[in-house]
Amino acid sequence: ASGDAAAGEGVFKKCKSCHGIVDAEGEVIAKGGRSGPNLYGIFGSVAGANAEFGKKYGKSLVEAGEAGLEWNEAEFVAYVADPKGYLRTYNDDKKAKSKMSFKLRDEEDAKNVWAYLVSVGPK
Ligand code: HEM
Repeated sequence: ASGDAAAGEGVFKKCKSCHGIVDAEGEVIAKGGRSGPNLYGIFGSVAGANAEFGKKYGKSLVEAGEAGLEWNEAEFVAYVADPKGYLRTYNDDKKAKSKMSFKLRDEEDAKNVWAYLVSVGPK
């Protein structure tokens, strides 16, 4: 990851209203709300496929995952900047919707959050 994980930990405060980070043993790395999926081990994972979040995912994100979307830095940065716009492009569907309305437009902040998520994720 090209970002700064320490800076990303600060940026992640903006995500905590909806996302926590909880490892496979249930240890809470970052306490957060539950309206969004747990972001532990997000890198390399298939989009919209965390079984714990299951049916709470929107259809468009699940479709993107089924079409092959896996989270890497570039896809993550583009997604968090504008989740709905990203899914409309990725799915080639002008009516695609996102259940995440929050936008993190600053690319450096997004790269830093990505680095943070990688740093606290599985090795
Ligand atoms: C989904 C990141 C802020 C609500 C996601 C996903 C990522 C992500 C990577 C896809 C997860 C997956 O495929 O399993 C972030 C980051 C944030 C942030 C880095 C802060 C910079 C928020 C906020 C909210 C939110 C503030 C609520 C107000 C959601 C929801 C989904 C989601 C509901 C599921 C989307 C869907 O099913 O269409 N987020 N998020 N997120 N996020 Fe966020």
